[in-house]
Amino acid sequence: MHTAFDFDRRIERRNTASIKWDYYPADILPAWVADMDFAAPEPVLAALRARIDHGVFGYGLPPAELREVIVARLARLYDWHIAPEMLTFMPGVVPGFNLACKALAQPGEGLLIQTPVYHPILHAAQNHGLERQAVPLVRRSDGSYGIDFDAFEVAITKRSRLFILCNPHNPVGRVFTEKELARMAEICLSHNLYICSDEIHGDLIFSGQRHLPIAALAPEIAARTITLMAPSKSYNIAGLECSFAVIPDPELRQRFRAARAGLVPSANILGYEAALAAYRDGDAWLEALLGYLEANRDYLQAAVDAGALPGVRMATPEGTYLAWLDCRGAGIFDQAGDFFIEHGRVALNDGAMFGEEGRGFVRLNFGCPRSLLEEIIRRMQAALNARHSL
Ligand SMILES: Cc1ncc(COP(=O)(O)O)c(C=O)c1O
Repeated sequence: MHTAFDFDRRIERRNTASIKWDYYPADILPAWVADMDFAAPEPVLAALRARIDHGVFGYGLPPAELREVIVARLARLYDWHIAPEMLTFMPGVVPGFNLACKALAQPGEGLLIQTPVYHPILHAAQNHGLERQAVPLVRRSDGSYGIDFDAFEVAITKRSRLFILCNPHNPVGRVFTEKELARMAEICLSHNLYICSDEIHGDLIFSGQRHLPIAALAPEIAARTITLMAPSKSYNIAGLECSFAVIPDPELRQRFRAARAGLVPSANILGYEAALAAYRDGDAWLEALLGYLEANRDYLQAAVDAGALPGVRMATPEGTYLAWLDCRGAGIFDQAGDFFIEHGRVALNDGAMFGEEGRGFVRLNFGCPRSLLEEIIRRMQAALNARHSL
């Protein structure tokens, strides 16, 4: 493992206006909201310091260099060749897929999603008066998830306009393969659907997997797709609020920009600085981070497989720093999140918030120093053991 970066260091985050650390009482250890407990890479901190020292914080403009760095990065990582003007900056990916709904579907039309899924995707349809057309992912016998393409196609109706894809998938941790992506795209295009692809976790991929932007598969897919990306998860700078949409098709881009007018601003000046420094100078840090996260994932998996959490099962996440734990074998069929808060003083996301299929599951965030992960597991174990001895 890389020694130049200290991911073991515990940084006090309480009383820093952190959702993750300040929402619950101080005796509850948080492993819920998807940010990590690591400091951002040093080049990001240096860029922010320099910008702060400048002292003037007027309205910003996306730096041309940021556009160039993103264009070069997409070409290098995915052989995806875009032009700088195809980028639209925004404060977040959540505003991005909501804008896609607003731009591309009329009230009463259909929005296709795959459940369980990140809750703002689950609830996007109702924000815009759309019909939610949810297709469950298929849970295989080993606990991993796949796609039933027949069900996917059957869920599409004449009203369907847009499919929001989440890849890598939160919460189930899948990194969809080229074959899966191509088939989903083929079905969407054959029914004239647009695709909005949330790829916010696209840098967080473990060995043996490869992230592929769905739009990079073919020009005809790119022409119907809004791709949402950000440095926020990868470099732990979500609070700086800088993300972007890649929209190659000029007409689609125009509709998306029209939908945001007067409502959703561009990103802010500190976010631009951080994004640029992260993408330009943060590769070594990201590589080391991935090694650390993968070791955390393997540690958690080994603990679960060894029975540290009696009755709980976990499918190995292929990407993200989120683990999806099935607690039904421990006799917990509902309100699993409340159970662990009450009996273990550890806060996980209750699976049901990601859809009905998540009832009896919890989502655990392992983007933290190993010592914290050990404590999270200990607290969960204590909760389960206390229950067995009741
Ligand atoms: C799949 C997914 N999309 C979007 C977000 C948040 O995006 P943003 O903070 O850029 O709005 C998250 C955060 O957890 C996420 O997991």
